[in-house]
Amino acid sequence: MARKITVIGTGYVGLVAAVGLADFGHSIIGVDIDEEKVQRLSQGIPLIYEPGIQEYLKRNIDSRRLRFSTDIDNAVRESEVIIIAVGTPPKDNGEADLSQIKAVINSIAGNLSYYKVIVTKSTVPVGTNRWIKEELKSKTGNSNFDVVSNPEFLREGKAVHDFFHPDRIVVGVESERAKEIMGDIYRSLYLIQTHFVWCNLETAELIKYAGNAFLASKITFINQMANLAEAVNADIHVIAKAMGMDGRISPKFLHPGPGYGGSCFPKDTKAIVQIGENYNVDMSLIKETIRANEAQKIRMVEKLKKMSGSMKGKIVAVLGLSFKAETDDVRESPAIAVVNRLLEEGAEVQAHDPIAIENFKKLFNSISYFENEFDASRGTDALVICADWNEYRNLDLEKIKELMRGNIILDTRNILDGESAREMGFVYAGVRRK
Ligand SMILES: NC(=O)c1ccc[n+]([C@@H]2O[C@H](COP(=O)([O-])OP(=O)(O)OC[C@H]3O[C@@H](n4cnc5c(N)ncnc54)[C@H](O)[C@@H]3O)[C@@H](O)[C@H]2O)c1
Repeated sequence: MARKITVIGTGYVGLVAAVGLADFGHSIIGVDIDEEKVQRLSQGIPLIYEPGIQEYLKRNIDSRRLRFSTDIDNAVRESEVIIIAVGTPPKDNGEADLSQIKAVINSIAGNLSYYKVIVTKSTVPVGTNRWIKEELKSKTGNSNFDVVSNPEFLREGKAVHDFFHPDRIVVGVESERAKEIMGDIYRSLYLIQTHFVWCNLETAELIKYAGNAFLASKITFINQMANLAEAVNADIHVIAKAMGMDGRISPKFLHPGPGYGGSCFPKDTKAIVQIGENYNVDMSLIKETIRANEAQKIRMVEKLKKMSGSMKGKIVAVLGLSFKAETDDVRESPAIAVVNRLLEEGAEVQAHDPIAIENFKKLFNSISYFENEFDASRGTDALVICADWNEYRNLDLEKIKELMRGNIILDTRNILDGESAREMGFVYAGVRRK
């Protein structure tokens, strides 16, 4: 049965949920406080880069199943399901900042005229959904609603694909009525036999944090192994491949690199440490992951210095500014730490990214940006690859060699053929072997 749904927050998660649920046949209002975003989305123009999103956006606007608005009151009143997908960024102490969630709950409370299901898709600390339930009860004086925790697991860059082909849907729900409605919302996924995990609110909230903390630790593990492999002249690719052949380990997330970044792993690992502290439970493993990951980012510049000496007065091309390929998201991108450190050490930076330049400019306006990797490499002493964009995998190194004034390449993603680079006269290093 088609449901009337409001999705509050139309960023990476909310927009993908809105277009995806509209495509399932539901009637969707996407709400955001950002007027420009709403205006552009209403014209079918996404403000984020996400492969496939534009097509789904246009198709569902044209079919009149999807519209956008800044009027949260009206949208909540009109809908029976309210999905919250606003940001939960980290505070200085690592705790999740719930101010956007709180603002939304206030608006919902004023518009609970008939039974509604309030679904939290944002990543929120354990206990938040129970708090939402109590808060709405005390603000409205009734219990004419259910609160559901439905954490999101999409990967930026593959978000549309992940929405339609999720590994599992986790639903923390405590009433049969809400369970039935959640089943309706995701009915299309039953057809492809998606796993559903039905559980209580706290379990759903913790599944999200546990998953992200585990993946962040797995990345950090392989990074440390890569550092050790480098020291002992072993090859981390062969090691990772052999490890991944063990069914208990799996080959995924065993790619060494410059440290994890993005809008989720850094903030969610900090938040779970904070949650552990609140409950007096030891989260030392995750704490160490956070520390080691920061060290890994810095290690990249240290490595570069070993190859080229002091950075003072050097010109460095940085290719790949987003936190990984196929996204324009630069939140906590390893390139931020690398560029910061290069500037501190007195280097000049010439940067390129296929789509993340505008977002990176908001953080660094004093470095030079170029439209392609060749112009960014011109006259540089060293080149650092920070994100694994496909177009960098087949860099025309002959041409780059002619354009650079130096010959150093640091490939923090191991995406180039190091042997050929060396044969061409580059001093090449990946995160791999001595
Ligand atoms: N980005 C990811 O890969 C990802 C994956 C899984 C889970 N999450 C979680 O999902 C949540 C959203 O993440 P995101 O990356 O989509 O964030 P985002 O910053 O891209 O989007 C948040 C949106 O909410 C809007 N907003 C803020 N306050 C609002 C309000 N009061 N009313 C209406 N709109 C409001 C903002 O304008 C923005 O458009 C976070 O909790 C995040 O941890 C993110």
